Amino acid sequence: MEQKLSSVAKMLTCSPIQQLSYLAQTCNAINLAEGFPDFPAPSYLKDAAISAIRSDFNQYRHVQQICDYVAYQLKQMHGLHVDPLTDVVICCGQSEAFAAAMFAVINQGDEVILFDPSYETYETCIRLAGGVPVYVALDPPHWSLDPKKLAKSFTGRTKAIVLNSPHNPTGKVFTRDELEIIAETCCTWDILAVTDEVYEHITFDEERHISIATFPGMQKRTIITSSLSKSFSVTGWRIGWAIGPACFASAIRNIHVKITDSAPAPFQEAALTALRSSPEYFDALRQDYKSKRDYLAQVLTKIGFQVSVMPKGSFFLFMELPPTCTLSDVDFVEALIKQAGVVAVPGCVFFHPDPDSSTKGEDLSPTAISCHTRYIRFAFCKSEETLAAASQKLTELMDGSGGLELF
Ligand SMILES: Cc1ncc(COP(=O)(O)O)c(C=O)c1O
Repeated sequence: MEQKLSSVAKMLTCSPIQQLSYLAQTCNAINLAEGFPDFPAPSYLKDAAISAIRSDFNQYRHVQQICDYVAYQLKQMHGLHVDPLTDVVICCGQSEAFAAAMFAVINQGDEVILFDPSYETYETCIRLAGGVPVYVALDPPHWSLDPKKLAKSFTGRTKAIVLNSPHNPTGKVFTRDELEIIAETCCTWDILAVTDEVYEHITFDEERHISIATFPGMQKRTIITSSLSKSFSVTGWRIGWAIGPACFASAIRNIHVKITDSAPAPFQEAALTALRSSPEYFDALRQDYKSKRDYLAQVLTKIGFQVSVMPKGSFFLFMELPPTCTLSDVDFVEALIKQAGVVAVPGCVFFHPDPDSSTKGEDLSPTAISCHTRYIRFAFCKSEETLAAASQKLTELMDGSGGLELF
């Protein structure tokens, strides 16, 4: 019966992350792997959700005011004008918004440019829509964009580019210059940009999020996707949105209605409370995550990692294994679970040594390939207690006989 599976489904193999999660569970390891908070959501949001359930918001629902707030926020943050009646679609998280956007614009064989490393789900959505992912490697340690590599990746079949900034897994925030290069290339080749801006409110130091839709000629060719998940610590509520010119938004809305009909009704109601949050809420969010970032960076430095580049956004530290460590990323995480009782994510899950890329002249030199197994992603979207417990376990191991055996 297996042959009945679609070719995309057959390609979706179990990632090392699932085996390591199982090991982590059996070892009761402290979880610095998963990219979601283990602390409570703000109580005023929980109250709003409870009140919505008590008020019997139980049926399929479209809460137009979410679109109004999202449009207002876009104006406040980026000076962009969108029509909340036609240009905003409420979806079940950024994940559905992105998938629906791919179904809305990709035809069989269309090429979609992605940066490498990247968040894992984009490729699956592109393939399900019949598209072909084409990876452009970002250059460590700053994960900078090389304009020559970008230029080389465009062909007559290129339909869109995916841009995730602030970036998972690296914590990179694309610079204004890099965004300008991407925007100019999109205009020259007449292609679309589909953005993932879920970390839009989580930036550090002086960094602020810039949407590529603000660059000349870009708003008409950009579909923005984002959600409540990360900004309000409610990844399970499944409220997100896509914003784009009416023709794209309308297609995404039609697909969304056919696939899920509507996002969860009580959480749409509670989303209104979230979106009304004060500027102080977002300042505190940034400040809290900055403290967590600095704390975890200090712990990792103490055990032998070199934090050469601090993340400017999102809530991950993407750490290179020290040269003295002879383990691969997967072996390192396995040893980390067994020896320290802490779990993180091997970087290889975010890299794509894709055969399609080699035909585009991508850098698949031995250095590029070895870098794919030399990074570990630690999530710091965890409570102070979790981070302190992880710190204790890691430093105990360091102080124990023979020091940390992993390095
Ligand atoms: C870059 C990125 N985009 C999207 C998501 C998922 O967002 P949502 O919960 O809104 O589907 C995640 C979750 O880890 C993420 O890291």
